[in-house]
Amino acid sequence: MQLRHAKPSLRDRILRPVHRWVWRDAGRRARKLLTFARTEADGGRDLARAAELTHDALLRRLYLRHARDEQGHADLFNARGRQLLREAGGASSGLELAWLAPGERGLDDLRVEDHTDASLLAFLHLSEKAAAGRFAIYREVLADPVTADVFTTILRDEEFHMTYTRTQLMRVQPSGIALWRARGGRLWKAYLRLASRLAGVMGGIILLVQYFLIIPIFALFAKRAERREKDGWKTPQERSLGSQY
Ligand SMILES: [Fe+2]
Ligand SMILES: [Fe+2]
Repeated sequence: MQLRHAKPSLRDRILRPVHRWVWRDAGRRARKLLTFARTEADGGRDLARAAELTHDALLRRLYLRHARDEQGHADLFNARGRQLLREAGGASSGLELAWLAPGERGLDDLRVEDHTDASLLAFLHLSEKAAAGRFAIYREVLADPVTADVFTTILRDEEFHMTYTRTQLMRVQPSGIALWRARGGRLWKAYLRLASRLAGVMGGIILLVQYFLIIPIFALFAKRAERREKDGWKTPQERSLGSQY
């Protein structure tokens, strides 16, 4: 099988300097690798489930190998992440910035039971392609050669995953219509992610405006109203201070 090579997306190529900055901090690097390890292990479990459910013997064998690979990636990320964390003395920087460098995100919302062989292969192909592209750019920007080597090893498997899912999709569904449906699904999810992030930012801005603009105006009105307020009822002792009665 002729392996397809991973290409980073245009967005990731434009964001290359940002990716370089994200991966520079050793503590953040460690945390990101540990998060990637969890995602890879989850992906491995999903693929083992897919192997149980499919009636196609060849796909079952390929899914089992794929599941083993993903578990292997989890182990590699885990080992390197822990090593980096030990070297950094357990310190890690505040933000992981997962939205900027999410790794193999595609399988995190996979529900294997909802798929046919074709739709699952299409979903896997697009997810693996996106992950391989991201891993390629991370490897390029990493100034830490040991972590870059981890990505090189994993990238080889991701390219195999990307290639076999496409080849098998063309075998089980020569029209490849499932690929277009899966692309539509990914676009819709990308839109939802963007919309929810935007809603979060807008919510923050509205709260800030309320806090710094609207509340001070009300406080000003309250103070002016207080000055115009006549004195209320006073005790005889208080009244006697200003009068002889
Ligand atoms: Fe992987
Ligand atoms: Fe993969």
